[in-house]
Amino acid sequence: MSLAVTRYEFTDKKSDYARLARELSALLAGESDLIANAASTVALIFDAVPKLNWVGFYFLKDGGLVVGPFQGKPACLRIALGAGVCGAAAAQRATLVVPDVHKFSGHIACDAASNSEIVIPLIVDGTLLGVLDVDSPQLGRFDDADRHGLEALAAIFLDTLPAGRAG
Ligand code: SME
Repeated sequence: MSLAVTRYEFTDKKSDYARLARELSALLAGESDLIANAASTVALIFDAVPKLNWVGFYFLKDGGLVVGPFQGKPACLRIALGAGVCGAAAAQRATLVVPDVHKFSGHIACDAASNSEIVIPLIVDGTLLGVLDVDSPQLGRFDDADRHGLEALAAIFLDTLPAGRAG
């Protein structure tokens, strides 16, 4: 298969996220290594989705979030559960869409370029594995179509992991 990332216009988000989901499935097919698949997932999203400045995973370790594979500038290595947008999404086990991070109480500014953010919790069999964090320099960058599209991509990544990975 070609490893070249398809270019999308994202004028029709639903359709382009669906195509990107198929591309991610093909990219990760037959691989179950956490690091390989996490790194490939963020690389694909960062390259294919427009107007992003940071895409990465934080994984739950020893009761806190620790940065995993990412694309973008170096960021915070550890985030406590409940802290910032990532910690809040993890603690609430809910996707958080923040149109203006400067208005989010407790937001952790890892990259000064970030103005909006979406954080998707990663849940496997009821166990929190971590979060997928996506940042944009554009205010209000993420809408419902982005939320559904990015949640679907996170689910494809989770489906590649061996059973019991999160336990
Ligand atoms: N802004 C995040 C911290 C992680 S960076 O954006 C990469 C937060 O508030 O949790």
